[in-house]
Amino acid sequence: MSRIVYVNGAYLPEEEARISVFDRGFLFADGVYEVSSVLRGKLVDNQGHLARLHRSLGELDMAQPASDAEIEGIQKALIEKNGIVEGLVYLQVTRGAADRDFAYPEGARPSLVMFTQQKNVVANPQADKGISVIAVDDIRWKRRDIKSVGLLAPCMAKMQAKAAGADDAWMVEDGYVTEGSSNNTFIVNAEGTLVTRQLGNEILAGITRAAVLRLAEEQTLKLEQRRFTVEEAVNAREAFITSATTFVMPVVSIDGKPVGDGRPGEVTQRLRELYIETAIDAIDQC
Ligand code: PDD
Repeated sequence: MSRIVYVNGAYLPEEEARISVFDRGFLFADGVYEVSSVLRGKLVDNQGHLARLHRSLGELDMAQPASDAEIEGIQKALIEKNGIVEGLVYLQVTRGAADRDFAYPEGARPSLVMFTQQKNVVANPQADKGISVIAVDDIRWKRRDIKSVGLLAPCMAKMQAKAAGADDAWMVEDGYVTEGSSNNTFIVNAEGTLVTRQLGNEILAGITRAAVLRLAEEQTLKLEQRRFTVEEAVNAREAFITSATTFVMPVVSIDGKPVGDGRPGEVTQRLRELYIETAIDAIDQC
């Protein structure tokens, strides 16, 4: 069945949705995006996603295409029109259409595109058995804090993982893990300390990462925000990734070597449960 998508003010069947061939998102990857998950027909952590959208747009001197309230209104309308109970809403803002020129055009109108995807985010069979990852060289640009639509490097990383028979890739720069192809990375080391890379231009400030750190603090887990190597991760007790579309997802092997006993770890499973419980509580209150 065809979805209803949103393109620059119109709700349209996906076959009828159009963007200019001169759109700078298409020509230069001159655009940013957000992915918010949907649980029980409601948006999860959406304020965080909208705040990060502002920041990404600001870093690129790109105009805000609509107010937060308008954007959220469109997200909710799409959830409703497409009957999404569990899944995600994708939103993309580009600088708009203009003659091809590397300099930002003056007066271009930003494009705003949104669509939904159905996905089992809670009852995800991968969460029960965990995923395997391989380490790959991080060949991305140096402003990974901006949620840019320029995603070819992570696509290549994902394909390297697939070719190696793994589920995903952990990207490595200067000997340290930056992040997963589309997620943040965590380990629980032998001392039981939760370790995740500190924020900076090298990684995206994940909204799920922030929520998990809040939960870990509430659980009085020991926390360290610092870089870690693949070797440290392989020798850790547990490992996991976070993102809006995976929530907390156990990583059970790295480069073919088991993490811990090769099964999803206790802390990981607890944080996944807590994240889902907290998201459902927040939904119930709105
Ligand atoms: N990706 N790091 C990268 C490089 C990402 O692309 C993502 C999200 C994250 C996690 O951020 P958050 O917790 O806010 O989803 C970290 C989305 C899900 C995607 O590209 O589909």
